[in-house]
Formats: sequence, structure tokens, C-alpha cells
Amino acid sequence: MNSTWFVLISLIISYFGLVLAGRDFYKILDVSKSASLHEIKKAYRRLAKELHPDKNQDDPEASTKFQDLGAAYEVLSDEEKRKKYDRCGEDCLQKDGMMDGGMDPFASFFGDFGFHFGGGEQRNEVPRGADLVMDIFVTLDDLYTGNFIEITRNKPVMKPTHGTRKCNCRQEMITKSLGPGRFQMMQQTVCDECPNVKLVNEERTLELEIEPGMVDGQETKFSAEGEPHLDGDPGDLVLKIKTQPHPVFERREDDLFTNVTISLQDALVGFTLELKHLDGHTVSVTRDKITWPGARIRKKGEGMPNYENNNLHGTLFITFDVEFPKQELSNEEKEAIKKILNQRPNNKVYNGLRGH
Ligand SMILES: *[C@@H]1O[C@H](CO)[C@@H](O)[C@H](O)[C@H]1NC(C)=O
Repeated sequence: MNSTWFVLISLIISYFGLVLAGRDFYKILDVSKSASLHEIKKAYRRLAKELHPDKNQDDPEASTKFQDLGAAYEVLSDEEKRKKYDRCGEDCLQKDGMMDGGMDPFASFFGDFGFHFGGGEQRNEVPRGADLVMDIFVTLDDLYTGNFIEITRNKPVMKPTHGTRKCNCRQEMITKSLGPGRFQMMQQTVCDECPNVKLVNEERTLELEIEPGMVDGQETKFSAEGEPHLDGDPGDLVLKIKTQPHPVFERREDDLFTNVTISLQDALVGFTLELKHLDGHTVSVTRDKITWPGARIRKKGEGMPNYENNNLHGTLFITFDVEFPKQELSNEEKEAIKKILNQRPNNKVYNGLRGH
């Protein structure tokens, strides 16, 4: 009896010991224990915007909160670290040197959060490297569901090397004494001596969030990921969304269009068909009326999600084409069809333009 209690109590103590020993990364990111990587990234991106110290200048703990967020993301976004953390908490990771803190929470690898650092005025004086603008091709599927795209960029980065180099060069007037009462003024290029640097290619992983409903031309800015400048700041990298053509769906604003070919039989007697949507869910279409070639039906709410409000969706338009049978019909079959359709002969020779 006694020993059972002892075991139970020590279990409780060790349990709380574990929890108290480190930060609760799930709570920091405000996600459940079973959150997917996608949810973790989404939560991180959202909170990084919200908790950014620039936005919370009167909160003395802003910086700590932001560091916590960075640590939580570092661990939970890495499968191996997350497993270990789930098993035995932050202490365990620290013991194994797995918390390298290498993830700079300020690094804008998710694109610009919309903050502007430093005084904009002084910026003009500091030379900047060129901005890089690039198209990034994304699938319609990703634009429907949202996704994170990893981009590996070989970025030239400045590294210190031995020696010095001339820098901040400018023109200055100097005055030389040529003797009593005689001076010569001349213009001269004056430079500072700076520590030497070399450009080294460094692999950087950038992560671009594709938000549901994004449209072509929408831009995400990665500050300072553009061309470097020896005497100034690097430019920005701007990624522009471009939709890859999809084999089944065509997008126009938030509406989707698709074509479906049905048999003449289905066209006449009705049918049920199931269409696989971009995220894999099925859209079911049932008709019992006659469907003619070019007939179009609309499915409200089955279009693309709206970017501003993901709960709103456009319309899916399905246009039908009818495939006619190719086999020969016997005389009896022809008579039977005539009897069923009972159509009067169409003696309009010129049918007019039907305006397709
Ligand atoms: C559907 O067919 C029309 C007419 O042939 C064509 O213009 C359109 O691109 C097609 N749409 C899709 C999604 O294939």
C-alpha cells in the first residue's frame, strides 16, 4: 500500500518536474500537441507579427517573449527535436546540445512582416544593393489550401578576410603650403581603411507562405535578401506569385472553371458524377434533366477561397460537352429512338450563329 503511494507521488513529482523544467513550446505557439507542421508554421508567422518587439515597445518582456517564440519554433518545426521535446522536455534538448539557438527570431525567412527598421530618412544616404524581383510559380492546389514553400537561395554574403580595403571614398579639397603666403588647393580622393571583406556564397533557406486565395502578382518581400552592397545594406528579395496552369481547373478571380464530357446517354437520362477538387474533396453533381452540349452548371462556394476572407469562396462553373456514340445503329434501333424522341424534322437549314 505504502509503496504504491510512493510510486504514484514520485511519478507526479517527476511529471511536474519535467513540465516546470522547461518552457511549454506548444503553449507559446498556441497550438495543440498534435499540430501539423503546417499549423506550427502558420502559428509562428502569425505570432511573430503580433509579438514583434517593434510593435510592443512598452512591454518590457517583449524581447523575451519573442525569443521564446523563436525557440518554440526552432524545436517544434524540426521533427527530431520535436520528438525529443515531447519525450523529455526542453532540458533534455539542452543537455544534448540540440538547442543551438541558431535560429535568429529576427531573421525574416518568412518574408517581411511589414516592419520598417530604423529611420527611413537616413536610409537614403546608405548605399543599397539591388532589389531582386523574381516570379515564383505555385500550383493552384497550393493557392487553394495554402502552403509553405521552401526556397533555397545561394546568397552572396560578406565575410571578413585579412587585409584592409579602401572604403567610403569621397572627394575633398586639400590645401598645400607652397611657401610663405603661397598655397595650392586641389581636389583629392580620400578613403577610409575598412577591414577587408570577400563575398562568399551561403545557402539560405527562405520560407514563403502561400496563403489561400493569393492572386497572381502578389508580392512577398524578404528584407535584405537581395544583392549585397560592399559599403551599404543589401537590397531586398521580392517574390511574386505566378500560378502554374492546372490541367483541370481554370481560375478567374475567385471563380473556377472546368469542362466535363458526358455520354449522350447520360446527357439524356441524367447522371451523377464526382469531381475531385483541388484539396481532394469530392464535388458531386447530379442531374436528372437533359444536359445539352455547352450547358453550364454552377456550384456556389466551390470556387477559390477569397484572400481577404478565407471563409468566402467563389463559384465553380462546370461546362458540359456531350460525346456522341460512334457505333452504327440498326434499323430497329433507329425506329425505337425516333419513337422515344418524337422530334419533328428540323427544316431550318441555317441555324444562325449560336454565339459560342
Ligand atoms: C474548357 O473549354 C473551353 C472551350 O473549349 C476552353 O476555352 C477552356 O480553356 C476549357 N477549360 C478548361 C479548364 O480546360
